Amino acid sequence: MGRDMILCVDDEEMIVDALKMELISSLPENITIETARNAEEAFQVVEESINQGDNFILVISDQRMPGIPGDVLLAELNKLIPDSLKILLTGYTDIDGIQYAINNAGLFRYIQKPWSREDLILTVKQAIDKFKTKRELDEKTRQIIKMNEELEKMVKERTAQLSDALKELEAFTYTVSHDLKSPLRSIDLYSRYILEDYSGELNDEVKNMVMSIRSICGNMFELIDNLLLYSMTAKARPELTTVDMDTLFRNTFKDMAKPLKDREIEFTVEGRLPEVTGDAVLLKQVVSNILSNAVKFTRNEKQAKIVVKHCFEDHKVWFSVTDNGVGFDMKHASKLFGIFQRMHTQNQFEGFGIGLATVKKIIDKHGGEVGIHSEEGIGTTVRFSLPVSPGKDANV
Ligand SMILES: Nc1ncnc2c1ncn2[C@@H]1O[C@H](COP(=O)(O)OP(=O)(O)OP(=O)(O)O)[C@@H](O)[C@H]1O
Ligand SMILES: [Mg+2]
Repeated sequence: MGRDMILCVDDEEMIVDALKMELISSLPENITIETARNAEEAFQVVEESINQGDNFILVISDQRMPGIPGDVLLAELNKLIPDSLKILLTGYTDIDGIQYAINNAGLFRYIQKPWSREDLILTVKQAIDKFKTKRELDEKTRQIIKMNEELEKMVKERTAQLSDALKELEAFTYTVSHDLKSPLRSIDLYSRYILEDYSGELNDEVKNMVMSIRSICGNMFELIDNLLLYSMTAKARPELTTVDMDTLFRNTFKDMAKPLKDREIEFTVEGRLPEVTGDAVLLKQVVSNILSNAVKFTRNEKQAKIVVKHCFEDHKVWFSVTDNGVGFDMKHASKLFGIFQRMHTQNQFEGFGIGLATVKKIIDKHGGEVGIHSEEGIGTTVRFSLPVSPGKDANV
């Protein structure tokens, strides 16, 4: 960092020397005072000092000088050293010069000659303070901008790393699930051969064991298929069409309830559900996963009740599915929309904990939100939102 400088310009040698002496005796030692007798000399001093990396805090110039006058000099110097403050030393009749210097050199103050010592020193000290405060502020602003740029760069890098990691993980899930299927199929097949071809030679205990192996294989197939579906929805790009949510909810429930002859389920859709813009296949998956949970977790109710509602909010439509099933304590349910998160054991209710994670992935892709609320022994409500179809307005 170069020197801090003040330049005094006056064609009268005695005045410029007096000015220099006054400043030297009143200012800190680390400020260098330079003098010039006319505009040409002033330009020379400034250019040399700039080349050496010095900083001009202040230029004090007399207005009346032969050749280039003070106001024009300050205006020209303002182009070279815009951060420095400028003071004009004037007579009583130099109003035009002051005006010109204010407009073209950002004049800090003018001091009338002959100046009072106190007034001069006070003005110069104010100029130094102003310059230093601005320099510190500029430095802090530079640091903040730099830190901000670094932060933005870091966020971009981390986001890219994260999204790469996520893609890798999804690809890994897909490959592992896919590759696991073929050895599993062999285990299942060999178990079936054993049961079919060697049935006579096996005692009941062994037969039961082999049958258990086949049933575990069946579970594993289901898990793998769910995982594959999850990783496929993660990769899928929604193909947007108009989807009639009313028909979708009613038909999905009808298909689901058909095989459940021994269940008593009261299924209600309040009002007519609207149409939305979305991917028909993926939204079917959403509705199916949520309704299958409602059906599953109301299994112990004599009279199960499932109610579907909707409401508009801003430019979104919310759908909710409420059941009167077993519910759970919300205290322990922080990540239910993450994969493999469950509130019930396999013995209580079968499942893998993939359904709601798939729901979230799909709704995320549609630009919507998901939520769940439950009370143990009372029931559960799952909500999701979707953007309203173009042309459909809120409260329609
Ligand atoms: N309607 C509901 N009533 C009570 N608990 C629910 C309900 N919906 C979800 N849950 C809780 O959230 C967990 C996660 O649900 P999710 O659908 O992801 O998994 P799952 O139904 O157990 O298995 P999967 O859907 O993969 O076959 C469930 O295991 C259950 O504990
Ligand atoms: Mg489920």
